[in-house]
Amino acid sequence: MTDFPDGFFDRTDPTSDGDFYALPRLVTHIDDGAIAAVGAVYEALGVDGDVLDLMSSWVSHFRAPPRRLTVLGMNAQELAANPMAHERVVHDLNEDPTLPFADDTFDAAVCCVSVDYLVRPIEVFRDVARVVRPGGPFVCTFSNRLFPTKAIRGWLLTSDQQHCELVAEYFRQAGGWDAPSAELRTPLTQPGDPLYAVWAYRATTEEPPLPG
Ligand SMILES: C[S@@+](CC[C@H](N)C(=O)[O-])C[C@H]1O[C@@H](n2cnc3c(N)ncnc32)[C@H](O)[C@@H]1O
Repeated sequence: MTDFPDGFFDRTDPTSDGDFYALPRLVTHIDDGAIAAVGAVYEALGVDGDVLDLMSSWVSHFRAPPRRLTVLGMNAQELAANPMAHERVVHDLNEDPTLPFADDTFDAAVCCVSVDYLVRPIEVFRDVARVVRPGGPFVCTFSNRLFPTKAIRGWLLTSDQQHCELVAEYFRQAGGWDAPSAELRTPLTQPGDPLYAVWAYRATTEEPPLPG
């Protein structure tokens, strides 16, 4: 198990995320090729039914809308503009990593280009395991762009490959997940933003989280 060094989860801007995300940003954070790769990996991994999009905004990148989509993020206007969403929740995961949902609420969860902003990722991943039904996937996707003042130091100091290992480690340390998988989902020859996915399925048998 990886021990994270002191300061790993610190950020250049430690002020409230509520301030940083107060104004809506109705933009896309990755290019069209990477967005297509997000939709493709969701489809390939069977993300459908009751779905939670964590750290969401005005667009959720599904090829086809899930049956019921709950979006959770920081900016109410961004979430209100999300055409696929059925339920919208403003919630700061860095202040409170406990999700405001009952156990086993969702068939699947996703988090697109945002996992690098979590200062308590193990707690968040553990709580995602609580709200996703056994056998359901949690799919984290990311590229190589970010808001540098809001990303954790450990992310800024590591490579794309190490980001995949880091997110896989979040799954392992959180517990409640089967062994994670990681893949580059855009072709090496495709110009533009790369898109990585790290995912795991909610364990169907209970195992305690790793200590530490
Ligand atoms: C780069 S944007 C990505 C938005 C969206 N997932 C997408 O694919 O375009 C980062 C998102 O993370 C969300 N976010 C950042 N910090 C957060 C926090 N502490 N708690 C919950 N959501 C957060 C913001 O609301 C913002 O929409």
